[in-house]
Amino acid sequence: MNENDFLIVDNKEIPIEGEQNLLELIRKAKIDLPTFCYHSELSVYGACRLCMVYVEGMGLVPACSTPPSPSMNVKTNTEDIRKMRKIIVELLLANHSQSCPTCQKSTTCQLQALARRLGITEIRFKNQSKNIPVDDSSPSIVRDPNKCVLCGDCVRICSEVQSVGAIDFAHRGANTMVIPSFGKDLDKVECVNCGQCARICPTGALTPKSEVDEVWKVIHDPNKMVVAQIAPAVRVALGEIFGMEPGVTTTGQTAAALRAIGFNRVFDTSFTADLTVIEESNEFIKRIQKNEFIPQFTSCCPAWVKFVEQYYPEFVHNLSSCRSPQQMFGALSKEILAAQTGKKREDIVVVSIMPCTAKKFEAKRPEFIHDGVRDVDHVITTQELGRMIEEAGLNFRELDPESFNLPFGFKTGAGVIFGNSGGVSEAVLRYVTEKLTGEKRESYEFTSTRGENGIREIKISLAGKEFSLATVSGLGNARQVLEKIKSGQAFYDFVEVMACPGGCVGGAGQPVFTNPVVRQKRTKGIYENDRMLELHKSQDNPYINELYTSFLGEVGGHKAHELLHTGYKSRKRIADEGMSLSSSDGEQTIEVNVCFGTGCFLKGAQKLLRDILVHIDTEQLGDKVSVSASFCFEMCEKGPVIRVGDKVIEGCTLEKAALAIEEERQKVLGDKTVNSMQ
Ligand code: SF4
Ligand code: SF4
Ligand code: SF4
Ligand code: FES
Ligand code: FES
Repeated sequence: MNENDFLIVDNKEIPIEGEQNLLELIRKAKIDLPTFCYHSELSVYGACRLCMVYVEGMGLVPACSTPPSPSMNVKTNTEDIRKMRKIIVELLLANHSQSCPTCQKSTTCQLQALARRLGITEIRFKNQSKNIPVDDSSPSIVRDPNKCVLCGDCVRICSEVQSVGAIDFAHRGANTMVIPSFGKDLDKVECVNCGQCARICPTGALTPKSEVDEVWKVIHDPNKMVVAQIAPAVRVALGEIFGMEPGVTTTGQTAAALRAIGFNRVFDTSFTADLTVIEESNEFIKRIQKNEFIPQFTSCCPAWVKFVEQYYPEFVHNLSSCRSPQQMFGALSKEILAAQTGKKREDIVVVSIMPCTAKKFEAKRPEFIHDGVRDVDHVITTQELGRMIEEAGLNFRELDPESFNLPFGFKTGAGVIFGNSGGVSEAVLRYVTEKLTGEKRESYEFTSTRGENGIREIKISLAGKEFSLATVSGLGNARQVLEKIKSGQAFYDFVEVMACPGGCVGGAGQPVFTNPVVRQKRTKGIYENDRMLELHKSQDNPYINELYTSFLGEVGGHKAHELLHTGYKSRKRIADEGMSLSSSDGEQTIEVNVCFGTGCFLKGAQKLLRDILVHIDTEQLGDKVSVSASFCFEMCEKGPVIRVGDKVIEGCTLEKAALAIEEERQKVLGDKTVNSMQ
């Protein structure tokens, strides 16, 4: 296209400057066209039809999937378009569970907002909602299919951005649904609890699982001492719920609000992030010296840890053995507060306030439960804390700032930057550089670890040795990096991974956002926090040094291992653990088994499986063929691999699968004929 190319949107000339679709140009014209299924970071799906516009000579077209061309004349608000939008939203509402006042997404639901914006005051269609059971099996996410508008955003983010593919479309026509793979409950599939699907879901169909009621209960129990820890990323996002700009720091008001609600102590997870830096850096130095389990992977993101355990078990020993700051805090605070106050561990209740849904899962891992008592009892998200503050009737913006309790409320900037992708690497570099060179550095920033790219590579020379680091956010990016390490295409000494794009500032427990600018402002807010603090290196935190002297003993020593470290195990499933997806009730069944292991997934097993199921349906083979999925046939290089009867098909396509099914069917028919003749 030429430099001077333009098109017309609602009578205004808009220059075309490399935009991929009409929607981007319409937004450039400052028109907020409604959309449900378009997100710039995902592939174009074009299903919701809300973005329909009129183009002269073309008629009605979806703006999100129509490429721009010069001199197009686009109208976004004709009478027909306005009517159509209303009908689409009314139909969605008619198919929707109408429980808006009690829905968690009530104030942030895009369907509700659109109904308001389009002035819909009545629904002219009969309520068709089906009352499907709610799936609350996951510790992190609640799935209510009755509120789903089938935009497919969750399916695409889980598969395209996170490369997990735990949820997908199932059934056809009016029965189409989005469900976890193989029709199982969410806790029975490969979901890593990152919650990105819930973050992007425009309605209340996917929401973080709330623990607010349990927290109120312990607050009202006079026998309990209730202790809060606040994660770094929460401080730059909580204010948004109360109308403040993203990135504005609210630590003082948050501490005041928590005390007003009834928490007995208010601490900062950044303190144990400082402790993580010290333990993890020393572990790194030891590994480098022994040349063992390099690269070292960070382990503070539980969704990433589960991803490694489930898809790359060969790398579990590369994960740092350090517990996450949340879990270090739980173990340490219970031990120390019990000794100080004489209270029993079970009467000290640790409540984490996290930007994260995966932390809810992490707190329930059996490694972190001792004698039936969890190290961290409850995890609530930034959103949940916002609801508690609202329920308590506190005027958050007007609260007089208060400070955290000591000692676990004192942190350095290194502990705070954990909230951003790249923060752990930078904090570790602030420690390791001084430790290896034996010299105090004046400056503390390592800005090469920062940035928006999902994969950032850093080379650094220290004490005569070259180090290579990667900071990664988004699990799809992590998969790319792991595959390169596996194939020898890349070598790193240290790899930081955060499951959420941009790190915890973009976690699914944060106030709902879809515009990446919100996340960027939070990121900036975290670095400003670092600059405003007095100290910037974890090794300078006086309370951490005191903790080692008076309680923990040596860094990486016995006590530190008992309270601050852990181990991980493989969660890889192998071929004998097949999951039935469709079973024939015919007499003689053709067994089709599709490998769903990592290698095959990467080579398209998910699409192949879907195509095979559709083929069986359209060819009416449902009574003759049973389909199941298994994990890894140990032929990963040749994927996607399927088995039809006894025959293994490598590099399988739908055509090869259909042929093999037909051959097997002929064989079964032949056997039947022979049997009937005998
Ligand atoms: S929580 Fe994450 S892994 Fe699980 S279904 Fe949602 S996007 Fe996929
Ligand atoms: S669950 Fe939410 S994101 Fe997924 S298809 Fe339904 S409405 Fe869209
Ligand atoms: S990146 Fe942060 S918010 Fe996201 S899953 Fe990991 S720990 Fe949770
Ligand atoms: S946003 Fe274009 S069809 Fe959904
Ligand atoms: S992933 Fe190993 S054979 Fe399919």
